[in-house]
Amino acid sequence: MKKKINKKINNNLWGGRFTEKPSETMVRINSSIEFDKILYEKDILASKVHATMLCNQKLISKLELKKIDSALTKIDKEFKHNKIKFDHKLEDIHTHIENRLIELIGNLGKKLHTARSRNDQVATDVKLWLKEESILIDRHLKSLQMALIIKAESHINTYMPGFTHLQVAQPIILAHHLLAYVNMFGRDRENNRNIITRHNYSPLGSAALAGTSFNINREETANNLGFTAPMSNSIDAVSDRDFILDSLHLCCSIALHLSRLSEEIILWSSPGFDFINLPDTFSTGSSIMPQKKNPDAAELIRGKSGRVIGNYVTLFNVMKALPLAYSKDMQEDKEALFDSIQTTKDTLNVMTEMVTDITFNKDKMMQMCNKGHSTATDVADALVAELNIPFRDAHRITGNIVALADKKEMQIHELNIQDFKKIDKRINNNIIDKITIESSVKNRKSFGGTSPKNIKKELMFSKEKWCND
Ligand code: ARG
Repeated sequence: MKKKINKKINNNLWGGRFTEKPSETMVRINSSIEFDKILYEKDILASKVHATMLCNQKLISKLELKKIDSALTKIDKEFKHNKIKFDHKLEDIHTHIENRLIELIGNLGKKLHTARSRNDQVATDVKLWLKEESILIDRHLKSLQMALIIKAESHINTYMPGFTHLQVAQPIILAHHLLAYVNMFGRDRENNRNIITRHNYSPLGSAALAGTSFNINREETANNLGFTAPMSNSIDAVSDRDFILDSLHLCCSIALHLSRLSEEIILWSSPGFDFINLPDTFSTGSSIMPQKKNPDAAELIRGKSGRVIGNYVTLFNVMKALPLAYSKDMQEDKEALFDSIQTTKDTLNVMTEMVTDITFNKDKMMQMCNKGHSTATDVADALVAELNIPFRDAHRITGNIVALADKKEMQIHELNIQDFKKIDKRINNNIIDKITIESSVKNRKSFGGTSPKNIKKELMFSKEKWCND
């Protein structure tokens, strides 16, 4: 029996060969308008540039271009004033804009799609959007670096315990610790710039995958959209999502750096450490324990890093076995990308404000420096430098000193000269002088080390490198 053709096809962009409407669930999972509507400005811009090129190539007339261009301007305003009605049946942002164009200028609107496809359109739109967002991320990273540098400047002479294995290791300068994060976020900025430059090539004009029979000018559209040049292989151009994967990876790296800093803020604000006072604006209380002040902002940043890493894993999994060229799987790139970019901007912002408002309890940090025999390495180093004892032996002798101090329930700097001489007769007051926190820090003058003299230089260098552009 012949199947009854009774359902009207209302997707007039591709419905020509179809006899039946898609199912309701298909309409819902096929639709991306809820999230890809944020691309509207880029889609309109790329459409205008494409139309101008069609006119320059005599594929449409000047009058036609004028009408298309002003209708696109009108649509842009309609989007800005929330006047566009979204319809899942129209799938995505590209179809919504084209549909509205046809509503406004009739058959002429149908000419805009000459020599292009949604495949090159979507790749171009997302690239344009991402480039702009990447520049914003650079600005956010810079603000955080500046907040850290300003905080570091006021703590060139603040001592804190440096940790390895989260055990007190050696005393350091707080500014040194903060500048470590400036370097980490600096690498993120460099990676970001690389990504922007490396992917700045236009997919537009690749059409569905094989290029087009029309005499188009891809250099012109690439140029007018701010790209370095057109992508050189049309199949690659419509299949490539490396630019998104690279950015998602960058977001992971930023999230990881933010999460490590958050973890330290969480630890430092706990009563066991009590190194910092968290601003009220970034903390919350407990509904039952009136005394509590919880570091929620830092915990949220740490938690959101999991989500950002998840987005990266999502898209790698989506892409890993896709044959060339475009497949609809690739529509799954957007939610992951949009979410990671928004989360990265938000978390950078919160961290910048939090760093600006944190105050440090210098006394508490100094107290912890005086625990855990933090200057034991300085004793061993002094035995080498003053008495020419080989380092391995100096290490063992110092170990014996630490054991003696532990036995007496004291810190090594609380022992007297007789105690030291019990372990090794050669030890003198010169060596004992080296075990203060201040001299330990002052002596770490090697390049990159913690001495305040070094740190002052590093601060100047950091300001020059990161704050001037
Ligand atoms: N909404 C689609 C996406 O985001 C646009 C491309 C659709 N292309 C196609 N041949 N169905 O990937």
